[in-house]
Amino acid sequence: MKTVHNIVELRQQIHDWRQGGLKIGFVPTMGNLHAGHISLIDEARRHADKVVASIFVNPTQFGPSEDFDSYPRTLEADSEKLGMAHCDLLFAPPVEEMYPEKNRTWVDVDELGDHLCGASRPGHFRGVSTVVSKLLNIVQPDIACFGEKDFQQLAVIRRMVQDLFFPVEIIGVATAREANGLALSSRNGYLSAEQKDRAAAIYATLQDLKARIQGGERDFPALVKLGTDKLRQAGFDVDYLNISNADTLIPVSSPDSHLVIAVAAKLGGTRLIDNVTLSIACDQ
Ligand code: PAF
Repeated sequence: MKTVHNIVELRQQIHDWRQGGLKIGFVPTMGNLHAGHISLIDEARRHADKVVASIFVNPTQFGPSEDFDSYPRTLEADSEKLGMAHCDLLFAPPVEEMYPEKNRTWVDVDELGDHLCGASRPGHFRGVSTVVSKLLNIVQPDIACFGEKDFQQLAVIRRMVQDLFFPVEIIGVATAREANGLALSSRNGYLSAEQKDRAAAIYATLQDLKARIQGGERDFPALVKLGTDKLRQAGFDVDYLNISNADTLIPVSSPDSHLVIAVAAKLGGTRLIDNVTLSIACDQ
């Protein structure tokens, strides 16, 4: 696998592939790769002839008190994993390549970024949309893969691509999980073995709420309270647990056809997110 650190070299390689009529798949990441990222590479490979991954810890999506400085940077191990997954090209730019000057142009997707994680991470999705716009403009892929674990991020990016006419197909990829249900995340590396066991409560709670709704329970505020209490009992500091419309991401208090149950909760200092989706008939 070839690694490039600047835009000119990346574009040269992409240009050569395009001249040969090849289809390009793209997987943007912040590195510290795990099996979830590799499933994105595998999915990209299913849709494209050449797969490009990026590793860039994007400063503009971290709040001032968040973990930008301590976010794990593991380029060597990541390159090895990408090579083994038959990724064709790694783009690993330094911050100065992506933000050569003070950034003055921002991409902000109205409303979708305001709920759920947006409420407690102001500016986060503006940073994500902006860097993903830059990356899509640099790589110009035919398809790009994003994990469904970051449900809100995927919704924001889909809407951005639609509104700004980016000529790319966005593909959502199912969340990869530990055997106990814990969604794979680079931040799981901050958890002790005991915390990892305890963190299984997140997915178990989501599954329980989903089963209750599918079983006919319709008192959403009561279900949210039940889930929140369960997580608190398991030692979590719950940022939010919402039952929302899966398209608008607006929390709903009564049945809606396509729902996402999404949670963000801290264990120790580690913020974990997860979600499940479900469809129900509105008149039930
Ligand atoms: O999901 C991530 O790793 C990041 O938010 C992304 C999409 C690579 C943008 O920095």
